[in-house]
Amino acid sequence: MSDTTASGRRSRRQAQAVDVEETQPVENVAGEISPYELPGPARRTNVRKARRGYYAPKLPGAPSTTRQATVLNTALIGPSTGTQGVANGRDVLSHNLVTHDPVTAYNSVPRLISSPNTVVVGGVGGGKSSFVKTVCVIRPLVIRYRRAVIFDKKNRGGEGEYAELVREWGQGEPIRFTQDGSGSRLNLLDPLIVSQIGDAGTYRLLHAIIRIARDGAQLDVWDEKAARAALSKTLATFDAGRIATLGDILPWLGRVDAGDDDMSPASRDRLHQAGLGIRFTLEGLLDEYGGLLDGETSKGVDLTGKLTSFDISQLPAEGPSSNVIRAIGNQWMLGRLRSDPGWQTTCINEEGWDMVEGPAAHLLKSNQKLSRGLGLNNVFVFHKGTDIPKDSPGQTVISEAQSIYVFRQDRKDDADWAVRTFGFDPSTAEVLQTLQPGHFVFKYGSVPETHVQHVRSDIEVTLTDTDEGMRGDARKVQ
Ligand SMILES: Nc1ncnc2c1ncn2[C@@H]1O[C@H](COP(=O)(O)OP(=O)(O)O)[C@@H](O)[C@H]1O
Ligand SMILES: [Mg+2]
Repeated sequence: MSDTTASGRRSRRQAQAVDVEETQPVENVAGEISPYELPGPARRTNVRKARRGYYAPKLPGAPSTTRQATVLNTALIGPSTGTQGVANGRDVLSHNLVTHDPVTAYNSVPRLISSPNTVVVGGVGGGKSSFVKTVCVIRPLVIRYRRAVIFDKKNRGGEGEYAELVREWGQGEPIRFTQDGSGSRLNLLDPLIVSQIGDAGTYRLLHAIIRIARDGAQLDVWDEKAARAALSKTLATFDAGRIATLGDILPWLGRVDAGDDDMSPASRDRLHQAGLGIRFTLEGLLDEYGGLLDGETSKGVDLTGKLTSFDISQLPAEGPSSNVIRAIGNQWMLGRLRSDPGWQTTCINEEGWDMVEGPAAHLLKSNQKLSRGLGLNNVFVFHKGTDIPKDSPGQTVISEAQSIYVFRQDRKDDADWAVRTFGFDPSTAEVLQTLQPGHFVFKYGSVPETHVQHVRSDIEVTLTDTDEGMRGDARKVQ
């Protein structure tokens, strides 16, 4: 029975008034305009025209690009990713959740991507570190048998930028490396390294270290012969009741093997000189960074719990030390992973330019298969790719990665490089140059790229908003 009394009508009016007041415009509530709340265009109401099939909107449509238009066709466009993996953010056009996790995608049946490696590239202040800290480090930690290892190169107040995160979510402190020897040490001839990658692998590592110490210069065949001979002699004959270390190779460098006596005196002399040259290079390295490299690996160097950081932020920005530690650390990790079968390890290479551009790229490339077998996936974070030579091992490592996140690239050259390298649509070059902090272009496997906004929780914001970022002077840092 309906209430027709005056008081009944009044109270209904009041109730309606209250309702109206409570409905806030969506842009006030959500800080943006949702397409679902806007009134649609007026439709033809003329019955006769409607009978003849004129159902089109009366207003002319707004011009739009094919890309913008596809999103309106919900029958054609689905979410750009499935729902498995880790939340990355939301698709800027459709507002769909974008989830992706390289390990999940790589291990799903059938495989969604052919490599678990990830590339994160973009200018300073674009939001790369915030993204990696949340999407690649914190969020996957809740998944069983997952862990992250970080080579943390960026100094923030006297320690690496991940130190806080490690204290909060890991077990213990970052493993610190310092030039004065007060920190930890890594031994190039650590049994974990030699037993995992073998003599040949250890030689590749030594080769990379010599090149890094020589500022990237190539070794010639004489250098290579001298270095290989000295290393195999050390590994075969060392018996001093302790583990061999980098310093133990030095006495063998410059000696010419009796087995090489079919060489002319001039050739023997050349080989002798090549050996001495390498000895001088390694001596120089040990003189300067003895505390880091000379001796057995420190006891504290281990993978603890789900989060470990190799803090290389206090090593001098100039000079080879941080790259040497990164190269040896990477190989050490391969050896260490064997004792934890079933674990999936994400290795974050922040400021990982040298890993893809320098001599270490050779190592990475040659260890790809081994890494996969041991459940290791790498995340390379760097600013731009225009300097990476074509056909270099670094270029191969990048183009093999199947999870691509490109943050703002201010310069057209850099944006064009990304478009070329990752096979983006040409129109994406312009998008890349105007991305806001926290926005990126995402591509996995051969699925076309999407513009995504990274969304962080409140806790994540406090953990990732770097001071320099908030002061707006991020560009000066690094
Ligand atoms: N998802 C995001 N949304 C909004 N702002 C962000 C987001 N991610 C990062 N930022 C802002 O950008 C600043 C720089 O981020 P950062 O991750 O340090 O960039 P990068 O590592 O690329 O230099 C942060 O301090 C923060 O203020
Ligand atoms: Mg950063």
